[in-house]
Amino acid sequence: MTAKIIDGKQVAAQMRDELKEKVARLKTKGVTPGLAVVLVGDDPASKSYVTAKEKACEEIGIYSDDNRLPADTSDKDLLALVDKLNKNSKIHGILVQLPLPKHIDEDKVLLAIDPKKDVDGFHPVNVGKMVVGQDAYLPCTPHGVIQLLIRSKVTLDGAEVVVVGRSNIVGKPLANMLIQKSKTGNATVTVCHTRTKNIAEHCKRADIIIAAAGRPHTITADMVKDGAVVIDVGVNRVEDATKKNGFRLVGDVDFEAVKEKASLITPVPGGVGPMTITMLLYNTVQSAEKTLSQ
Ligand code: GUN
Repeated sequence: MTAKIIDGKQVAAQMRDELKEKVARLKTKGVTPGLAVVLVGDDPASKSYVTAKEKACEEIGIYSDDNRLPADTSDKDLLALVDKLNKNSKIHGILVQLPLPKHIDEDKVLLAIDPKKDVDGFHPVNVGKMVVGQDAYLPCTPHGVIQLLIRSKVTLDGAEVVVVGRSNIVGKPLANMLIQKSKTGNATVTVCHTRTKNIAEHCKRADIIIAAAGRPHTITADMVKDGAVVIDVGVNRVEDATKKNGFRLVGDVDFEAVKEKASLITPVPGGVGPMTITMLLYNTVQSAEKTLSQ
């Protein structure tokens, strides 16, 4: 079997068109959704993510407030900026790009963001609400994965899903979202991680494999059941002298071999990546809409 490619760019473009209309409607009511992006330091991958997020905002009419701080910024100065953004009524969403430099207490910073503006869905209040099935901002990458699956007509109800990776940003929230008693959940989920005894055995049972380990070639063809759906969340830079910038992006899945066994597969780039940014726009628009009903 040769897999059909799930085109994340196309699904994202469709969702962004829907959001563009919502933004236009909000503007007629006097509300321009605003997203503040905070980047500390100059990690090249983080810089390119932040630039892509800001560009996407502008494309659909969201006001983007750019805050780039030097790597030696203190906890105190960063917390003061977060406080200022919490109080700014033009700002409906705050995103502090992770990881932060080592001297900054990441948990303290995430806790300082007003949960109502936490469009990343990383504040413990939003994480807790998500786990118990209450209305909350859903973290963008896992929510993007679920939207890709649903919009590709993949059945989640009763499906055996294996999530490889247990990060706070992807693996843990994704597993929680997939087991919710809801139309976008009802799956049976196994979470594999670095201490799992035999990842291949778990993966071979899966109707859906979601790779979020952060390591190339984590999922090889022998681990995949015929006809399984394979979603690749990995974004890894590998050296490539033929490229102008000296690297290329690869996922966690051995794409060329796995696509011969899977029924559906996401590429890297062009799969989950565009959806992550789209769900950030979605959460920001949702936050702006909530101000109208307050
Ligand atoms: N670093 C990697 N992914 C993310 C994300 O979705 N949000 C933030 N804030 N930082 C990240």
